[in-house]
Amino acid sequence: MRDPGAPVDLYRLLEAAGEPELIDREIPENAEILELGCGSGRITHPLIALGRRIVAVDFNPEMLELIEGAETVLSRIEDLDLGRTFGGVLLMSTLINVPEDARLALLRSVRRHLAPNGVALIERYDPEIGNDPTPTERHLGAVTIRVSEISRDADRIYQTIDYDGGTHGHWQIRIQGRHVVNDDEMLASLAEAGLRLLHWIDPQRRWLAAALL
Ligand SMILES: C[S@@+](CC[C@H](N)C(=O)[O-])C[C@H]1O[C@@H](n2cnc3c(N)ncnc32)[C@H](O)[C@@H]1O
Repeated sequence: MRDPGAPVDLYRLLEAAGEPELIDREIPENAEILELGCGSGRITHPLIALGRRIVAVDFNPEMLELIEGAETVLSRIEDLDLGRTFGGVLLMSTLINVPEDARLALLRSVRRHLAPNGVALIERYDPEIGNDPTPTERHLGAVTIRVSEISRDADRIYQTIDYDGGTHGHWQIRIQGRHVVNDDEMLASLAEAGLRLLHWIDPQRRWLAAALL
């Protein structure tokens, strides 16, 4: 299975931007971490370098082939049932920004795999995304990321993302009406899945920590 928003050749070029340190701060020391939607290991590999043990899950076998130093599992997140729990579970990269039924299927997988004293970290879009249509530019490793044609329609975000990797290549992804999850929806979905908010991590409330209800 492929995620059209995550081309393998692009993801192998992208570097982390502070996420491993954030995760390392929030997840209990010595906890084994289940990373749902690990991609090419952009976050997995720095976490391993920080001394973390990771089980990395993705439904794209080409992504999993790039993972080194972690146990890998080829599976849809929604179908995953490893029969064991983890002190940390990661659901990053705005995978949670989908309508309610799909969101609950993801969160129920988080719930199934979270240990009683474990911490789940979830990354969503900034709830204010798209309200400011000004184009942006930033750099992630060798790649320049330009976001343009930005608009917001109620709880939907539309934007064009250009990934300029110079001689490595150029990729363009159109985000066409992805769901923006507001605070109330997020809290309701957590509770419905048997989870509770521990705290919002950053001022924009993009990241949250959750535990078993
Ligand atoms: C946008 S990439 C991000 C990868 C990594 N989290 C990072 O930050 O670099 C999302 C990854 O999740 C995987 N993915 C998306 N939906 C999935 C699902 N329902 N089950 C398993 N993997 C999924 C894709 O194949 C892709 O590798």
